Amino acid sequence: MLYIYGQPTVFGNLVKHLLCIIAISAALPSPAQWDNDWIRPGKIWADDQGRPINAHGGGILYYQNTYYWFGEVKKGKTTRAAEVTSWEDYRVSAGGVSCYSSHDLTHWKYLGMALLPTTKDSSGDLDTSRVIERPKVIYNERTGQFVMWMHIDKYDYSFARAGVAVSNRPQGPYHYLGSVRPNGQMSRDMTLFQDDDGSAFLIYSSEDNQTMQACLLSDDYLKPTATFGRILVDANREAPAMFKFNHKYYLITSLCTGWDPNRALVASADSLLGPWTMDGDPCTGPDADSTYHAQSTFVIPVEGKENDFIFMADRWNKTDLQHSTYVWLPLHFEKGSPVITWKNVWKPE
Ligand code: DGJ
Repeated sequence: MLYIYGQPTVFGNLVKHLLCIIAISAALPSPAQWDNDWIRPGKIWADDQGRPINAHGGGILYYQNTYYWFGEVKKGKTTRAAEVTSWEDYRVSAGGVSCYSSHDLTHWKYLGMALLPTTKDSSGDLDTSRVIERPKVIYNERTGQFVMWMHIDKYDYSFARAGVAVSNRPQGPYHYLGSVRPNGQMSRDMTLFQDDDGSAFLIYSSEDNQTMQACLLSDDYLKPTATFGRILVDANREAPAMFKFNHKYYLITSLCTGWDPNRALVASADSLLGPWTMDGDPCTGPDADSTYHAQSTFVIPVEGKENDFIFMADRWNKTDLQHSTYVWLPLHFEKGSPVITWKNVWKPE
């Protein structure tokens, strides 16, 4: 058929167009990859508008029969800070926090920006030149407010603080209140955990990422209290995801290796402030030793199902962070221990 290119016939032009269309569609994800009726760990996940979900390092709030997914917006070019030589400091401009909602944990509706970054004050915590990571939201029944905590940092991660914002609606917009080092302690990768009695804890990599700490929040969830524990001591862990089962606390974390994946470990405790014991790797199946090329961010308790959890992780694309994807997998307890199982395609029952 090559001869067609040499001859400007109507038929030749038609074939050219056809070949062009075939080439373009081969470069785009196949319809199956865009299908949002299923969870496809590691693949592009489309929202209700057919756009890739942009909510990294995220967490889930369950409120009034709806799941809300909050996460970091990563968009634009990834650059590497040349001044930082001891590790690969790849980053995109801080994009703020997005929010999506769902009733089945599979179809997600984009609700807009929960917390916008700012551009006019480079010394502000939310400036696009800073780092806004791992946002988590809980609802405070006493105050009727939704409280978001997040990791706030400078481009070289030397600031190591926890930021807090509030809203009267789950999806925001959130009003930023400021950042702290809880009890003077460094705070990088973090999560929130709300216990059955309404008490809430901030869990964060501290002491230059050597030791994880857990700090009880004030009754309004807006401030750290003086009650805190050193929970994973000298373990060099980050990416905390905490959950509770049968009156016991569990904490999945990763080793601190920048954006590169490593083996996940789960720790357990009878009391949230410790002592904690490291129990081993909860992941099973192919690529379990690299957490399926991903890093933990949250564990979702599936509402109404006692032994059904979802392990949420980020598969970072460190040199092109906006194209990072999500690895969500079922987590169940087997013989008293949490087990994560690999699935190519699945959906929660
Ligand atoms: C690993 C953390 O878990 C991420 O949230 C991010 O802070 C990267 N390190 C930065 O390298």
